[in-house]
Amino acid sequence: MASAGAVITVLLCAVITDSVLSNKARNVLILLADDGGFELGAYLNKICQTPNIDALVRRGVVFNNAFTSVSSCSPSRAALLTGTPSHQNGMYGLHHGVHHFNSFDNITSLPNKLRDNGIYTGIIGKKHVGPADVYRFDFEQTEQNNDINQVGRNITHIKLLAREFLAEANKQNKSFFLYVGFHDPHRCGHSHPEWGPFCERFGSGERGAGLIPDWAPWYYRWDEVQVPYHVQDTEAARRDIAAQYTTMSRLDQGVALVLKELEAAGHQDDTLVMYTSDNGIPFPSGRTNLYDAGLREPLVVVSPEPGARRNEASGALVSLLDVAPTVLDWFGIKHEQEMSNEITSHDDDKPKSFLPILSKEPAPSEHEAVFASQTHHEVTMYYPMRAVRTRRYKLVHNLHFAMPFPIDQDLYLSPTFQDILNRTRSKQPLPWYKTLKQYYFRPQWELYDVRADPLELKNLHGKPSLAQTEASLRARLAQWQRRTRDPWRCAPGAVLERQQCRALDNGLD
Ligand SMILES: *[C@@H]1O[C@H](CO)[C@@H](O)[C@H](O)[C@H]1NC(C)=O
Ligand SMILES: *[C@@H]1O[C@H](CO)[C@@H](O)[C@H](O)[C@H]1NC(C)=O
Ligand SMILES: *[C@@H]1O[C@H](CO)[C@@H](O)[C@H](O)[C@H]1NC(C)=O
Ligand SMILES: *[C@@H]1O[C@H](CO)[C@@H](O)[C@H](O)[C@H]1NC(C)=O
Repeated sequence: MASAGAVITVLLCAVITDSVLSNKARNVLILLADDGGFELGAYLNKICQTPNIDALVRRGVVFNNAFTSVSSCSPSRAALLTGTPSHQNGMYGLHHGVHHFNSFDNITSLPNKLRDNGIYTGIIGKKHVGPADVYRFDFEQTEQNNDINQVGRNITHIKLLAREFLAEANKQNKSFFLYVGFHDPHRCGHSHPEWGPFCERFGSGERGAGLIPDWAPWYYRWDEVQVPYHVQDTEAARRDIAAQYTTMSRLDQGVALVLKELEAAGHQDDTLVMYTSDNGIPFPSGRTNLYDAGLREPLVVVSPEPGARRNEASGALVSLLDVAPTVLDWFGIKHEQEMSNEITSHDDDKPKSFLPILSKEPAPSEHEAVFASQTHHEVTMYYPMRAVRTRRYKLVHNLHFAMPFPIDQDLYLSPTFQDILNRTRSKQPLPWYKTLKQYYFRPQWELYDVRADPLELKNLHGKPSLAQTEASLRARLAQWQRRTRDPWRCAPGAVLERQQCRALDNGLD
């Protein structure tokens, strides 16, 4: 407990800082990992070494209950950059190649809005969203005009690009918004198998792998890694995880390089820094799933304000949909309310700035909720799901539950998934928390008490003692879908016509 004297000092600081900072530039730096999870010392992984991200945590707030609204790369990035779920901004799946998903032309994105307000905007690394006009940055060095591994994994190259961006921002004497989309620790087996399942040998200095001068790769023993509960405990899966950890060392050192550039450019003390990831790790139940392993994200936020919390954890339930309003709040730009005349909704269901959490932990509330909406990943992977999660419960609606859950190309080729397939086919022991059949075939409704059952194994759907809880979660999910104009809000039991659900009489609801 702080003494009264300490409280007063903190308040005074906050007041002074406000007036001082308002005359100065205020900037934002977002450091986004690609499929990054909790392979971080700061989140209690004792094996994977991430000293630089851990150091960032000591300067700010680490969130223990941060969730993406969609577990897929392009949709998650589009949601983060617009503050709207994928079904509302139109980015239903991956942007590149044959998948070809794009947001609607009439969407307002963070970079466009910030640019309109005189802020210098930049993106380095993985972009993976479109159309170009909807997501336009002043400075763009991405996979759309470079090799993805150079701008996303070559941390020396990333460092030099960050230096160039910051020099230009200083030259223009403008506040800036810099978004660095690392491609690590994404898988690579589908694109560059010659560098290992996570491209963990790219730039390692081995023959044929080239050199990344600023990277000291760290290697791990497969029998020492920490196997997450949703991955089978076998040698094949462990070797896969060890490769992922090596790639984390490149990401972690890349984060340090960009932060050093920020400091060298004179902006350590006026920049809000965030580290997070787009979706869950590329392992079973992770990416493309609405289980917690697919939705829960690392989130570290450092505010330069003198009164801000340092080296503290927050238990607040936050969504990556809150990032856009947070950035606008930081820059003092008004976030206009959505136009809607059909809803009188809880404010809780709307994205909101988490800046206040950086100075004071809010009182926990059982009413808080985060929402998720998944429709595709690859174009072939049509498996619409919607979910609501409170601190205690998670309700998932699998709209097309009669179909087998789809598997993406990248996960399919992974040593972990091949091991599951091989063992299942040859009826060998599979030390996993599910069977492949359970993984593929899911019921229409899944209700979990995530506090008592964090592995989400015991489906409580239809349990009489929870009837009221389930009904209220369903009502909240339906309300969120209506408010965000979800085209799927009547599926699978009805068709949406003139804002009404018209029954199909197919026995589903
Ligand atoms: C934006 O475009 C989509 C798709 O064309 C459309 O359904 C939606 O009504 C538009 N929204 C606004 C606010 O114009
Ligand atoms: C930079 O901009 C600030 C206001 O944003 C102004 O006070 C300062 O004089 C400017 N510096 C230069 C070198 O133009
Ligand atoms: C990484 O980038 C640096 C600087 O551009 C370059 O010298 C180096 O060869 C690159 N490494 C790889 C593996 O491409
Ligand atoms: C799975 O089986 C195939 C064919 O027998 C084999 O080539 C592959 O190495 C096995 N993979 C794993 C991860 O066990």
